[in-house]
Amino acid sequence: MRLKELDIYDVRNLTEVHMECSPGINIIYGKNAAGKTAILEGIHLLARVCSFRTPRINDVIQHGKQQISIMARLNDEQNNKIVTGLEKSRQATKIRFNGLNVNKRSEQARNLPVLTISPDSHRILHGVPRERRHWLDWSMFHVEPAYMEYWQKYHHALRQRNALLRLCANQAQFDIWENVLANSAVLLRRVRKTYIDRINAQIPYIANGGIRQVEIDLRSEEQDQETIRANLRQQRKADLVAGYTLYGPHREDIVFNINGREASRSLSRGEGKLYVLFLIMAQALEYKSIKQQQPIMLIDDLSAEIDDEARKRILEQLQCQDLQAFITTTNPEYLENGAEILKRFHVEQGSVNAEAAA
Ligand SMILES: Nc1ncnc2c1ncn2[C@@H]1O[C@H](COP(=O)(O)OP(=O)(O)O)[C@@H](O)[C@H]1O
Ligand SMILES: [Mg+2]
Repeated sequence: MRLKELDIYDVRNLTEVHMECSPGINIIYGKNAAGKTAILEGIHLLARVCSFRTPRINDVIQHGKQQISIMARLNDEQNNKIVTGLEKSRQATKIRFNGLNVNKRSEQARNLPVLTISPDSHRILHGVPRERRHWLDWSMFHVEPAYMEYWQKYHHALRQRNALLRLCANQAQFDIWENVLANSAVLLRRVRKTYIDRINAQIPYIANGGIRQVEIDLRSEEQDQETIRANLRQQRKADLVAGYTLYGPHREDIVFNINGREASRSLSRGEGKLYVLFLIMAQALEYKSIKQQQPIMLIDDLSAEIDDEARKRILEQLQCQDLQAFITTTNPEYLENGAEILKRFHVEQGSVNAEAAA
């Protein structure tokens, strides 16, 4: 999927913006507070129906306005022309894709695959386990059709067991739901592990010359159903005290290693940012190979804390993988180092002007 034309209305300081986009790299530059990130926020909103900066739509709607509107003309992989639009007010959301109403956010996310790398993305490395699980779950919902089914089954059984803990129910009742939990825990771990291994296989293509020997893994050991069941049984007493289930895939963590060490402990902020960039690009390649569809890359503030060589590497990779990207920066010269920039947009106080290729 590629954005051909984009119209944004009333997203932060962008009152009315029209952009004719390059199918390759789009550099969005301008001073601080010009509205660069707001453009990426607009694209992200159109795809995911939420911002990557705030959970509150109120923050995004331009002061004094009632709603935001975003419209895009797209080309799909077969070069079909598709129109999609989003209108979102404080009360209501309306999404259209290719002439039809879209009722679910997840459906629109599948229609318009977008991967966003923002200055907050380092939280995948440095944040709490929930943020890593969220990253993994979100990816898996989109590439692994069976994942949703396993996930729902697991969470249903988990809610039942948690209810039993509160009721101090009898052993037989626990046995029933612990069987279901153990069964879906094995399946969940298996698909997560397969996906992680596929990401691991993509990373060397991306990171070659940059970060080496990067490896992701699940923190938990693989266990068979019988062992998980026995663990749950043994854990009941402690869970009764806690009032919920302390053990299982809902508490899973992901470990990011580099040269055999945990990345979150050994990398500087800049290195961590680069690591996450490579990770999300590997995810894009994996998405492309499974879904036969190009995700659109949004990279907010590429210049910060990343050195020339790494920036060059990222641009080369985006180009050689033929990914469409929207990259914001305060310093566009940084980004022209050897890479062929396809289109540049200058943002100034909420208005956007396209420039000829450098
Ligand atoms: N709801 C809003 N209505 C109007 N302007 C806003 C709103 N929210 C933020 N802004 C302003 O929008 C501008 C653009 O912000 P941003 O996209 O973060 O800029 P950049 O990424 O170029 O630094 C800022 O000046 C900010 O104060
Ligand atoms: Mg910004």
